[in-house]
Amino acid sequence: MLIWPATRFVAGEQAAEAFEAARDLNAKGILATLDLLGENVTDPEEAHASCRSYIDVLRGIADAGVDSGISIKLTMLGLDIDPGLAREHLVSILQAAEATGSWVRIDMEGSRYVQPTLDLFREVFPAHRNVGVVIQSMLRRSAQDVEDMIRLGASVRLVKGAYKEPAEIAFPDKNDVNAAFDRLAGRLLENGERPAIATHDDARIEHAIAFAAARGITLGGFEFQMLYGIRRETQIALVERGYQMRVYVPFGEKWLPYFYRRLRERKENVSFVLRSVSRR
Ligand code: FDA
Repeated sequence: MLIWPATRFVAGEQAAEAFEAARDLNAKGILATLDLLGENVTDPEEAHASCRSYIDVLRGIADAGVDSGISIKLTMLGLDIDPGLAREHLVSILQAAEATGSWVRIDMEGSRYVQPTLDLFREVFPAHRNVGVVIQSMLRRSAQDVEDMIRLGASVRLVKGAYKEPAEIAFPDKNDVNAAFDRLAGRLLENGERPAIATHDDARIEHAIAFAAARGITLGGFEFQMLYGIRRETQIALVERGYQMRVYVPFGEKWLPYFYRRLRERKENVSFVLRSVSRR
């Protein structure tokens, strides 16, 4: 059951609640991407079921008439069991998305999944152009990955990275993560394919805006993305300034790992939860 503090970050347990959240966002001029929560599936039957559920979500988006794509995690589709199985599921989802005219973003998970995720992406991308990936600025390898994705003509969502990673592979200092974010955002804005600048950080957003303006990059050439429930006023303010904004709307019964990542990323959220619980 979705407990109360988590409802700030998760639209609900049912797809209908996610469609409703997308409809509300659309009414404010904001696009959506729906994420059916779940990850690290170890049972092939469960991976099949996740694939079928995502196909239902795509049909639901079309039936509801909301302007939304989907975001998927390959470990929910069986990457831990067998990359071939995850590939089969990914292709089924991409085909279903093609049929409904939808866009699919493959989320990036912890560092051990980065190479397998990019490998699978490269395999499917030539035949399916309705899919993009995510690159995390905290990882030292990401400068090279961004160049590879630019060369491939793939759309990248740039994020800082939500997973705890060792210093050998990730910048331990937040300033370095931010500097890398600005550098990579610049590369993607200038040479990438419709990049998504996904952050709630004002300094990163204003850097991207100034960079795009200085180079005459049109507002339709990229989009900002934020997470459901975070910085709602800024989402609207950016739309009012003429930028495209997409909000990531998670839903489903398996909300705990996602909720935990949102808490870990900001200590104020932990006090918010403690205050909420103690008030009840
Ligand atoms: P940062 O953490 O520095 O926060 C900047 C400011 O934003 C804070 O000061 C606060 O005001 C606000 N803020 C940030 N997080 C908040 C929170 N949890 N609660 C309340 N306020 C908050 N990661 C990943 O590894 N793989 C992925 O596929 C994705 N996908 C993804 C999609 C989208 C649309 C977004 C916006 C983010 C992701 N992420 C992700 C998560 C991302 O890596 C990162 O963990 C969070 O966006 C937080 O980082 P910020 O860039 O917002 O900066």
